[in-house]
Amino acid sequence: MTVHAYAPGRVNLIGDHTDYAGGLAVPMAIDLGTSVVGEPGGERIVLHSEQLDGLVELPLRPEDPAAVEPTWGRYVAGVAAELQPDVGFTGVVRSTVPVGSGLSSSAALELATALALGFRGPARELAALCQRAEQRASGVPCGIMDQLTSACGVADHALVIDFTTLAVERVPVPAGAEVVVVHSGEARALAGSAYADRRAQVEAAAALIGSLHDADPGDLERVDDPLVRRRARHVLTENARVRAFAEAFSSGDLIGAGRLMAQSHASLRDDFEVSTPTLDALVERLCATTGVHGARLTGAGFGGCVVALTDPGTLDEGWTVRASAGATRLNPASPPAGTRRRGA
Ligand code: GLA
Repeated sequence: MTVHAYAPGRVNLIGDHTDYAGGLAVPMAIDLGTSVVGEPGGERIVLHSEQLDGLVELPLRPEDPAAVEPTWGRYVAGVAAELQPDVGFTGVVRSTVPVGSGLSSSAALELATALALGFRGPARELAALCQRAEQRASGVPCGIMDQLTSACGVADHALVIDFTTLAVERVPVPAGAEVVVVHSGEARALAGSAYADRRAQVEAAAALIGSLHDADPGDLERVDDPLVRRRARHVLTENARVRAFAEAFSSGDLIGAGRLMAQSHASLRDDFEVSTPTLDALVERLCATTGVHGARLTGAGFGGCVVALTDPGTLDEGWTVRASAGATRLNPASPPAGTRRRGA
């Protein structure tokens, strides 16, 4: 029996570095994704990739996922270590998600692998398992946004996620809105250690003032360290922007939504310090383009992609992405969702 599992990448419209702080974000699953296709059986997991080099060959319970070569196999190994499947799998990985760009190619690979290896259960459990797999594989203490978005995606809708409760609401992408992802040309650098530093700073602030989900700006005065205070201020103001963005988006106010995206970028640049001069210049150029309502870095930052909210047909670069359904196991095999790339 051929198994075909598919999981989408994601783009985050607003709300970055809020997930591990129990905050809020509005991501959407996109029509770029990863398929794992093959036959269950045997006692090893054997996968090759149509896009990436090397053959991944693993036992059912890999002991050290972070040491696996080729490196994309670490995510497969992380999933196997968490899932502990009873039978092996031999197949192929096909992906349309660009690697290392902030569109969650690793989450898409993790979810598609988990479903192919036999995971059965609710979307939140799938996401949590794959978050643990990502942490094991990469050593980065990531939040759950990428995996939860890939698991819970809804066609034509963005998701409003509250990371304290893991409640996921859907908000329709307004008619006449286009979401375009543009790569800065800068590979993400130092993302691992800088990400862990930021997370530690946010946790230090929460230890002083309690959950940043419920704190208000006055609470920041109780944080003496000016650097930690700025990190917490980003999370607080970002949560407020996410709430306002969800309102604007659901009422079709693209100008208001775009303004909030630009403010989010400024906060990530100035208070959270995860932008780069290249990302800043790209956001500035896009925001100055007629028909672009707003733009911001998306994902962890330190390079990678920018997301822009535009009128249709405004930009002739990057990927125009559509909000798409979440991860699924298809039986019998059928082709993955189509993709649209502009200016390729
Ligand atoms: C990465 C992580 C997510 C999230 C974003 C920043 O994508 O995997 O959990 O923290 O960075 O918002």
